[in-house]
Amino acid sequence: HPHPMVLPVGTTLDRYIMHRQYAFAFATGELSQLLRDIALAGKIVHREVNRAGLIDLTGEMGQENVQGENQQKLDVIADVRFRRALTFGGEVCALISEEEEGIIFTGNNNGKYVVAIDPLDGSSNIDVNVSIGTIFSIYRRISPIGTEPTFDDFMQGGQEQVAAGYILFGSSTMLVYTTGHSVNGFTYDNSLGEFILSHPDIKSPKDGSIYSYNDGNLNDFSEPISKYLASCRERQYSARYIGSLVADFHRNLLKGGIYLYPSTPKNPNGKLRLLYECYPLAFIAGVTGCLAVNDTEAILNIKPASMHQRTPFYIGAPKMVEELMEYIKG
Ligand code: AHG
Ligand code: MN
Ligand code: MN
Ligand code: MN
Repeated sequence: HPHPMVLPVGTTLDRYIMHRQYAFAFATGELSQLLRDIALAGKIVHREVNRAGLIDLTGEMGQENVQGENQQKLDVIADVRFRRALTFGGEVCALISEEEEGIIFTGNNNGKYVVAIDPLDGSSNIDVNVSIGTIFSIYRRISPIGTEPTFDDFMQGGQEQVAAGYILFGSSTMLVYTTGHSVNGFTYDNSLGEFILSHPDIKSPKDGSIYSYNDGNLNDFSEPISKYLASCRERQYSARYIGSLVADFHRNLLKGGIYLYPSTPKNPNGKLRLLYECYPLAFIAGVTGCLAVNDTEAILNIKPASMHQRTPFYIGAPKMVEELMEYIKG
């Protein structure tokens, strides 16, 4: 085959996706198109996020989502943008979103894929110009093509994801995704309107010295978790917590660290949502050599039962997550 296996830094996302499609027999044209649709919606949300302070896009929408959270205007705008891109793109038969209670049927019953999405992650940070993101997870549907997609299409479990990724709207905008072979990061070049390969084949450090959690919840954590955190403090690890999962995950992925969102009496199942926050990041983490677990099992092995279900979430450098698990096991 004439296509080299490794493309250089500076390759556009479109070219990269095409290349992958040729290089891997299983990678279909439909999945390629779907990834391009997500990138397009990402560019539109990038534009909205970057001018939010100028055109009255900050602040609350004035309504609650199914999670009982006050929706921000950008939560809703991002939700609409991704829904539209995935509907018009034609490859997706249904999606679920943090912002909507039920399955969203696109009407494309010939589409082969379903998507679970957190359209805008870190909404408490929108109004203060701090990094936010988008997280997505893609499955091949199990219901017959040509029929209406079903709940079970979304209940396949994390191991069945065919692709997952996130977009970080940070000091630059980046798209990071995997189809299971490698994880690659693309930085958005505003002047070209293109995502450009900047972080090929991301590998995460085996160990690290950053720990990330909401310290305001510390008194509500179980004893093993508090003890582990005390040991991090003892070793003078750096505490870093942005409060946008995407941004906290991305930093720890590149630098080496652990992110924790444990259960508390207030949130007995933790806060983060399995299908569109934890599964996709766990998939990416695994490919880069990181671990993602809750108190009892690997995140990707959790059997899903409902669309918006939550789980405690510990993710990061394998040595750090293994050590945490020792504390939990006692
Ligand atoms: P979202 O904005 O999509 O609802 O997600 C919020 C999540 C996640 O982004 C973040 O890491 C976490 O909530 C922060 O929670 P705390 O404010 O409780 O620390
Ligand atoms: Mn939310
Ligand atoms: Mn989120
Ligand atoms: Mn969100």
